[in-house]
Amino acid sequence: MASRYHEVYGNWKQNPEEFWAEAAAEIDWFSPWEKVFAARAGVYGRWFPGATCNTCFNAVDRHVEGGRKDQPALVYDSPISGRQKSFTYGELKDEVSALAAVLKDFGVGKGDRVVIYMPMVPEAVFAMLACARIGAVHSVVFGGFAARELAARIDDAAPKAIISASCGLEPGRVVAYKPLLDEAISLSAARPEACLILQREEQRCDLTEGRDHDYAELVNAARAGGRVVPCAPVLATDPLYILYTSGTTGRPKGVVRDNGGHMVRLKWSMFNEFGIRPGETFWAASDVGWVVGHSYIVYAPLLHGCTTILFEGKPVGTPDAGVFWRVIAEHNVAALFTAPTAFRAIRTADPDPEMLAPHDLSGFRTLFLAGERADPDTVKWAEKTLGVPVIDHWWQTETGAPISQDPVGLGMLPVKYGSPGVPMPGYDVQVLDDAGHGVPTGTLGNVVVKLPLPPGALPTLWNDDKRFRDAYLSEFPGYYKTADAGLLDEDGYLFIMARTDDIINVAGHRLSTGGMEEVVAEHPAVAECAVIGIADPLKGQVPCGFVVLHGKNTADMGTVERELIAMVRERIGPVAAFKKVVPVKRLPKTRSGKILRTTMQKIADHQEWTMPATIDDPAILDEIGEALGRSES
Ligand code: COA
Ligand code: AMP
Repeated sequence: MASRYHEVYGNWKQNPEEFWAEAAAEIDWFSPWEKVFAARAGVYGRWFPGATCNTCFNAVDRHVEGGRKDQPALVYDSPISGRQKSFTYGELKDEVSALAAVLKDFGVGKGDRVVIYMPMVPEAVFAMLACARIGAVHSVVFGGFAARELAARIDDAAPKAIISASCGLEPGRVVAYKPLLDEAISLSAARPEACLILQREEQRCDLTEGRDHDYAELVNAARAGGRVVPCAPVLATDPLYILYTSGTTGRPKGVVRDNGGHMVRLKWSMFNEFGIRPGETFWAASDVGWVVGHSYIVYAPLLHGCTTILFEGKPVGTPDAGVFWRVIAEHNVAALFTAPTAFRAIRTADPDPEMLAPHDLSGFRTLFLAGERADPDTVKWAEKTLGVPVIDHWWQTETGAPISQDPVGLGMLPVKYGSPGVPMPGYDVQVLDDAGHGVPTGTLGNVVVKLPLPPGALPTLWNDDKRFRDAYLSEFPGYYKTADAGLLDEDGYLFIMARTDDIINVAGHRLSTGGMEEVVAEHPAVAECAVIGIADPLKGQVPCGFVVLHGKNTADMGTVERELIAMVRERIGPVAAFKKVVPVKRLPKTRSGKILRTTMQKIADHQEWTMPATIDDPAILDEIGEALGRSES
């Protein structure tokens, strides 16, 4: 079948408002919008102003009313705990409504924030939807972050309530959440009025008198009391959630997602981009703490009337590298979405792959990869192994949905390995040089998006229009800066090569090396440091800290190294995977004092590099090479 991509993209470009109004017809609105797009509203304009709607209604209630009451909505598959549980749309509505009643009893209402710090359990999804139901704004914090990171988010969002659990489960260890939560609350200036704690059997916790409440007790009581909470009408432009993501400093950026545009964009994506029909099963093997989890574990599949899988496990080791195949076969998954690193892990553990044989994957149609660059080798291995198309697609927390991909539902385009496809409707992607001029086709430059951003992309940062403008809109006026470097080829395919800032992608997790530097620099023995991302065969990138010790330092390097690793784990979290420290005498800098991180990264990755013209002392680069050589041997 010939792809309809060019026709559909052309339609959008010709009349974006008509295009999105048509897409919006797939959503149930309580009242219509005044305008499809108000160019003068907000920082760069707002979508569907004046309309009222409710995201939980569209994700849950309307399917219950529309004949999907007994269809599984959410399947929880947890190889790490040995549990499985399925919830129909009817049951999901009951769970969400009961929790919404509990939140209301705590005084949580429209516009109030609720922080959700949960492992991959169904209650995390209920919590998100319960907030959406009453118009509260959720902010989910990934469980692999440490107390200080959680505290930064609590401070910024100032939640009225927090929903958490006694523990999370990682291979070989139980992660006690409650001490992290207590420490985070004590570190933050903002104090929640109530914490709702889910007690997990693997490790229960003590509840703090007067502040903490048992999740199950209150929700069960609300359910037994027949409490029914209707879906509150909110404005399309009201925030649905805040999701913090790494910025260029330790202070995370609160990406805001609205209700209306978000629903329109995600619903449109499910068939047109992912080729999925209502009633089918979609599995995003990510975590609800990341944007992929928000969009493609929770909202998009539910808005589309699909069955979504909530997987609490790892691609390998829970119990083995066959677990993805088991989940696909057992739940008849039509499409899987994960990070390339997961497939690298499976391939390393089971290269042939023998663990696939016992499983019937005949219902499986497409694999989607995102979160980091999908290396062609891994893509080809996955294609050969699964015998289905493997789609690399590019997006960011900020956009909430793919910016570019091969749109499966519109009909696939010829595959170009190493490219995450072509821009999706809503995205006029261009490549500019540092002075803001367009570069010739095929030339590497700054990848930008012509404003306005489409429905579903961030309208601003939480309480910080100025930071939003400064970080994304001011460098290239009229454009959104993606902070990715890449190129567009003669057929309009994008190639995303690297970040232009200090963000790195570790196993598909977005982290700031600037944030890690702030922690490393606090060590009393460290005079100066630079943290860069270096290539890793499994995780794509891992952080590496180059440290210059004070002349007066007497501690031995081994001790300092262990302490630095522990500090980053303690302050940012284990997910930072900061495990490599390289002592150096000096850091290479330009004459104006800027650390030459890109050159250091090229040396570390054994890539070709050229001597920067502005370098202060070229001999230091040899010292860096030697120090890396010593640390590798
Ligand atoms: N709570 C507490 N700790 C967590 C955590 C959580 N939710 N998630 C991860 N961690 C910890 C891990 O236990 C590990 O700790 P360790 O240093 O003590 O071993 C550390 O953070 C790093 O975790 P992770 O990045 O998951 O690496 P891993 O070595 O445990 O597993 C992979 C490697 C490739 C299997 C794993 O990274 C993976 O599945 N990646 C896919 C990522 C993904 O889905 N990204 C979402 C974007 S689509
Ligand atoms: P996050 O906000 O965590 O989704 O991370 C967004 C960043 O991840 C992007 O800016 C890219 O640098 C990188 N990224 C995501 N998907 C891809 C992809 N398919 N190819 C290359 N880089 C990607």
